[in-house]
Amino acid sequence: MTTTAAPAPTPTDTPTLTATGVTMRFGGLTAVRNVDLTVHHNEIVGLIGPNGAGKTTFFNCLTGLYVPTEGTVAFQGTTLPPKPHLVTKAGIARTFQNIRLFANMTVLENVLVGRHTRTKEGLFSALLRGPGFRRAEQASEQRAMELLAFTGLAAKRDHLARNLPYGEQRKLEIARALASDPGLLLLDEPTAGMNPQETRATETLVRAIRSQGTAVLVIEHDMRFIFNLCDRVAVLVQGEKLTEGTSETVQADERVIAAYLGTPFEGAPGEEEAAEVAAAEARTAEEAEDNR
Ligand SMILES: Nc1ncnc2c1ncn2[C@@H]1O[C@H](COP(=O)(O)OP(=O)(O)OP(=O)(O)O)[C@@H](O)[C@H]1O
Ligand SMILES: [Mg+2]
Repeated sequence: MTTTAAPAPTPTDTPTLTATGVTMRFGGLTAVRNVDLTVHHNEIVGLIGPNGAGKTTFFNCLTGLYVPTEGTVAFQGTTLPPKPHLVTKAGIARTFQNIRLFANMTVLENVLVGRHTRTKEGLFSALLRGPGFRRAEQASEQRAMELLAFTGLAAKRDHLARNLPYGEQRKLEIARALASDPGLLLLDEPTAGMNPQETRATETLVRAIRSQGTAVLVIEHDMRFIFNLCDRVAVLVQGEKLTEGTSETVQADERVIAAYLGTPFEGAPGEEEAAEVAAAEARTAEEAEDNR
């Protein structure tokens, strides 16, 4: 009897990112509720939703900044421990909604710091420029300069990060994130504060990042940017994933529009809770009435 062995999985079979049942509670507030999300190899996925929907909180759960109350996050099939440095090491890099650069370091130094997870030298050695750092420096510097050229910042290498215009600070954050050679890049509002030209350039940059083999999950409020760019878009509303699909499907979904406008709709996330609260308030009012 012959047995047919299952074919060995190819890299594209295992999703780059698998978030399963991620829930994040802060005291009484559930900021993210039971969210599943998958990002495949070479995919650009958008994450949209009104202010306070839980998008950044979800990113924080993915990157180990928060330990999710429930749920798991796996990168290329391996569950990640919720520790930021281990998540970076595994291959997920991110940028922040509120830019986090070393303001008094140069552009090049900021990228070199992002590189430290991929060199033997630690962060402090990099910052203190110890002997080990100098040895590793040459190779790292070459890679950092490649990334600065890639993001269009090569001419600014010796400028202090704090002196860059806002749009370039956002690009520098991307260059720094790429320095860890991630398989997945998470971008939290990469075009916030950018002019239309810079936004278009960012779209091109994200496509180029994908063609170099890095999948991208991007949060953005600029819908034109999202719908132009993304292979798939997931919508978070009040911490829950309302829907997910191609740009065309999501764009045409009236519930998404209603969620943005804050108009109530049937089956809206949080609707049940709101109804419970309303019922409880009504009962209290009735009781108060009866006790009079
Ligand atoms: N550390 C925290 N402690 C308590 N509540 C928090 C914390 N972080 C976020 N929240 C709450 O969780 C909810 C979701 O916030 P989050 O920042 O994730 O939203 P968002 O979708 O990123 O919004 P925006 O589009 O405005 O950036 C908000 O109600 C927020 O106040
Ligand atoms: Mg946010």
